[in-house]
Amino acid sequence: MRAKALQISPTAPENRALSSVSRKPATVRVHKRGRLHVRAGLLPDTDQILSAAESIGGAASSNARDLQGIAAGIRSAAETLGAYLPWPLADPTLALGADVANIVGLQPTWEGVSRLLAIYYILLLRPSPFLGLLDFYVLVPLSKVIQRRYQVADLTLRDRMGSGNFGQVFEGIRNKNGRRITGSSLSKEEKKRRVVLKRVNLDGSVLRSNFLKAGTMARGAGETGVAEAYMCSRIMRDPLVRQCVAEYQGEFIADASDGGFTKGTQWLVWKFESDSTLGDALSGSLGAKFPESLEEIMLGRIRENLDTEKRDAAIIKSILKKVLIALKRLHSLGIVHRDVKPENILITGGGNVKIIDFGAAADLCTGLNFSPGQGFLDPRYSPPEELVLPKRFPKAPFPAAAALVSPLAWQIGRPDLFDSYSAGVLLMQMAVPELRSASALRGFNKALGECDYDLKEWRNTKGYRYDFDLLDRKGGAAWDLAQKLICRRNAVNRGRLSAAGALAHRFFLPEL
Ligand SMILES: Nc1ncnc2c1ncn2[C@@H]1O[C@H](COP(=O)(O)OP(=O)(O)O)[C@@H](O)[C@H]1O
Ligand SMILES: [Mg+2]
Repeated sequence: MRAKALQISPTAPENRALSSVSRKPATVRVHKRGRLHVRAGLLPDTDQILSAAESIGGAASSNARDLQGIAAGIRSAAETLGAYLPWPLADPTLALGADVANIVGLQPTWEGVSRLLAIYYILLLRPSPFLGLLDFYVLVPLSKVIQRRYQVADLTLRDRMGSGNFGQVFEGIRNKNGRRITGSSLSKEEKKRRVVLKRVNLDGSVLRSNFLKAGTMARGAGETGVAEAYMCSRIMRDPLVRQCVAEYQGEFIADASDGGFTKGTQWLVWKFESDSTLGDALSGSLGAKFPESLEEIMLGRIRENLDTEKRDAAIIKSILKKVLIALKRLHSLGIVHRDVKPENILITGGGNVKIIDFGAAADLCTGLNFSPGQGFLDPRYSPPEELVLPKRFPKAPFPAAAALVSPLAWQIGRPDLFDSYSAGVLLMQMAVPELRSASALRGFNKALGECDYDLKEWRNTKGYRYDFDLLDRKGGAAWDLAQKLICRRNAVNRGRLSAAGALAHRFFLPEL
């Protein structure tokens, strides 16, 4: 309904005294929602006020009739839907339809509002308690039964790709027709069968069978392997989040000592996703210098005529955007990675970003691999608070309890801001050439600590000789984003952008 306006005559006797002050009549408007607006001017007389009040009444009753119509529509839609649904779903659908209709028709009931709030809390808030419980109590046991189980004879073990504190990582190939691959060069078809195998270091410490369920953090390499297997399989069950990580194919215990495997050792298996990590690109080991080396992969083609600075910014923006999308999706499940760094980010041939290495990750939806006051960290990428949740944060006694309080705990503690700080360090490392080497980053971290994690102060006092061109272009959009990611949290655990918040920053607006 359009707003109605009443003109107030300056010649009415009550208004004549004022007409010398202002000839402009006051207007009384009845707005769409029935609110009365009086614009400054001469005062309205009683008839005009009564007439305005009538208009309000008219507008309100017509609005109310509209709402009743919508409410009736919702009720009948719920009834139609309920008639098609099987009985366990029909009654709740009718009840929810009635609850929504009551609210829309401005006749809410306490019962209905509480029911809708409970549904919002359990299903729609992130991390979702419902999905967390479903995953932990139904899907985890189910996936253990149906997961693919490799045997030693199914695999050829090839070169070692890395060795960390918790395990050693090898390239492997899935054998075809039970035949191992002997040559060093691989055909295109063999390359497609490549896998990555992580041997879990069984470091002699006792492997507690229930440490995950007990809501404690992994101790030692063996338990870290169990935690990593849990995180990866949980992520694989979400169709959207799984696109952002290396495809996990399950774990197995070597059933024989053969072909480099030792009987009884534990292995985790992933699809081989890429030959390059962001770390390789930053160190210049992909041939050309960073970010030029990723131009074709990230931008789809080499653009000869593009100005270098614009090109470099586009590549960095594309990588950071994909990292932040991956983090945002992981966080929506309640998972905080806790070890976001270039070595744990794969860049695939198709220009996708895949996050790997979930041994340090915490699932804060079910409280798995999380203990208050304890944390894993790489000091070069970890935020000053060092912990995902404040030290004295209460610990949930078991996964179901953790899941039920997880949306609240998430809002209070904002554990995801741990990873967004690391993403800020990635941005600095990609954009400032002097920070790309591991040793330079160590120096940066120390100097930043001396500036109490105030990036602006660091730049003014310690980093002023560095090349900030990429950060300063386009009104300093990247520099502004870096400052909003690399900073201390405030007293209510906020004050730093989340992955979702960073994605909405003007740095990601398209360039003309
Ligand atoms: N799915 C994968 N595809 C290709 N390379 C991988 C994959 N997973 C790991 N890598 C390579 O192995 C290295 C070590 O793996 P990671 O899981 O990070 O173990 P670590 O605990 O030793 O750091 C990575 O930096 C990467 O080069
Ligand atoms: Mg790693």
